[in-house]
Amino acid sequence: MVPIVTIDGPSGSGKGTIAHLLADHFGLHCLDSGALYRLLGLAAERARLTPSMVNELVEIASTMKVVFRPGSVLLDDEDVTLAIRTERAGNAASRVAAVPEVRSALLQWQRNYAREPGLVADGRDMGTVVFPEAGVKIYLTASPEERAKRRYNQLKEKGLDANLRDLVAEIRERDDRDSNRSVAPLLPAPDAFVLESTALSISEVLEQVIGNVSRVYPQLVKPEA
Ligand code: C5P
Repeated sequence: MVPIVTIDGPSGSGKGTIAHLLADHFGLHCLDSGALYRLLGLAAERARLTPSMVNELVEIASTMKVVFRPGSVLLDDEDVTLAIRTERAGNAASRVAAVPEVRSALLQWQRNYAREPGLVADGRDMGTVVFPEAGVKIYLTASPEERAKRRYNQLKEKGLDANLRDLVAEIRERDDRDSNRSVAPLLPAPDAFVLESTALSISEVLEQVIGNVSRVYPQLVKPEA
């Protein structure tokens, strides 16, 4: 089995940033499972599907053509890099993600990412459902206000419109939906290392996570030059 590191946590906890930096540091593949749900949420909205239209959602989940490129993502040949990052797409994602049949349809697709030399996977259920055998499981969290602030800065950087008060409300709403759904709710795996990052910088979080991964997977540590 290849080395697998899972990073789960609520919206805006910094999972994506840490996952990419960690994958770069160790030269591993990176799976942004949230992007997959966002793509499906966007495709479902465009097809005017509601979460109760299960068969149609599963059909889209199984047939949508997704291409991840460095820095961009294509859905059925259209560049949707920015479109999937809006709060609207995040909410659409969290609605389709609550449908158990949709989650099953995406399971194997996600597991196929576990390839040599190893994988860093970020999402909500990477350590609990998709990769329960992962050697390192991180659960990254921060207060809703701090997460809203981080999301606000991220959106502004991308030139997207954002309002801090609305973001706090949307983050709370999404936390609530993700935590209370019946299938794969947002929860730390029992064997996860829970990292509260409200008062930590990105480099402090990264340092702790690199330490964990190096202890469990010493083969990934490159000898000092
Ligand atoms: O992580 P991100 O904010 O991009 O995820 C968007 C939404 O997709 C989440 O709010 C959640 O509902 C859903 N999701 C999920 N399981 C994952 C990743 C994302 O349910 N593994």
